[in-house]
Amino acid sequence: MYRALIRPLLYLLPAEVAHHFTFACLRWFTAIPGVGGWLRRSLLLSSEQSRVRALGLDFPNPIGLAAGFDKDAIGYEALGALGFGFVEVGTLTGEPQPGNPKPRLFRLPRDRALINRMGFNNRGSADAVERLARPRRTIVGVNIGKTKAVPESDAIADYVSSAKRVGAYADYVAVNVSSPNTPGLRDLQTTEKLRPLLVAVREALRETSLTRRVPLLVKIAPDLVDEDIDAVTDLAIELGLDGVIATNTTIGRDGLDSDPAQVANCGAGGLSGPPIERRSLEVLKRLRQRAGDRLVLISVGGIENAEQAWARIQAGATLVQVYTAFVYEGPLLPKRLATGVVELTREAGFAREQDAIGTGN
Ligand SMILES: Cc1cc2nc3c(=O)[nH]c(=O)nc-3n(C[C@H](O)[C@H](O)[C@H](O)COP(=O)(O)O)c2cc1C
Repeated sequence: MYRALIRPLLYLLPAEVAHHFTFACLRWFTAIPGVGGWLRRSLLLSSEQSRVRALGLDFPNPIGLAAGFDKDAIGYEALGALGFGFVEVGTLTGEPQPGNPKPRLFRLPRDRALINRMGFNNRGSADAVERLARPRRTIVGVNIGKTKAVPESDAIADYVSSAKRVGAYADYVAVNVSSPNTPGLRDLQTTEKLRPLLVAVREALRETSLTRRVPLLVKIAPDLVDEDIDAVTDLAIELGLDGVIATNTTIGRDGLDSDPAQVANCGAGGLSGPPIERRSLEVLKRLRQRAGDRLVLISVGGIENAEQAWARIQAGATLVQVYTAFVYEGPLLPKRLATGVVELTREAGFAREQDAIGTGN
């Protein structure tokens, strides 16, 4: 029904308007007494086979929603009710900011891809805290990034201010140094800049949450060369990080079937969806090869179906995330992926998904 009826109607709206409209409908629908619980019971797969223990948390299933959909942490419970095993909110920045001028989100339907240059539009980490502090049923990771107006010399302080605010309420914190839409942000991926940033965020999290160690991960771009991926992996291990999220969107435009003029018209921004599937899997394999099971790997980029999610788990991902496929496939995608992966696990002869992590190498 989503693909045949709802999606064509949403295509009549600009992509960002369609996003806000559908997200608002979902929040409204799940706010009706009884509906959120009923949806959760119907759509959230949580079974002996699907459950994954990682980062000190019990994930009902390994299918998460990637950062950028719920930037301000306003609807993670509604999204959890659709069957996501966890939701990563953000990117939240130290200061509120409007993001880039519109239009800044574009569909490439022929590739089932998106190009975005949102630019971390969000109300800031201080605003989100109030909502993150509420009791919840969904596992919520908090993705933090740099405020655009903050000069690079103050970048660490900006991340630290967000880490201090959200640390006590985040199930994990992800340091985003990989979005292409904040000038200079991706330069923070070089180890000499990344090291002091991660050390400072780690210390901030230690101070804010004395009773619990807040898991810390770093999110990287698919555009890093292999040697840089190795360097980030080594650094993450050395600093005692919990994991790596790979990957963000790409600034590349390779492998597209869409009309080149249409692609050029979109302008600058990060490309997501199937065109980054191959590179995202490659990056995951590289990470796994280097880190073994010393890091929790969350794989994201171009995953559309259960076979692809399963391939990531076999390649070493403990958890996976989707964003673009959720836009194209609609609200039943998380359940479809979660049940499909359980089936593939069983077919491969594993009792639990957890047992299959990294077995394909
Ligand atoms: C519209 C849009 C906004 C995004 N915003 C963020 C963001 O704020 N922070 C972030 O770390 N990643 C952001 N991403 C990247 C996604 O989290 C994900 O890493 C990427 O889209 C690849 O996954 P996919 O192919 O399943 O979409 C965004 C992606 C899209 C399409």
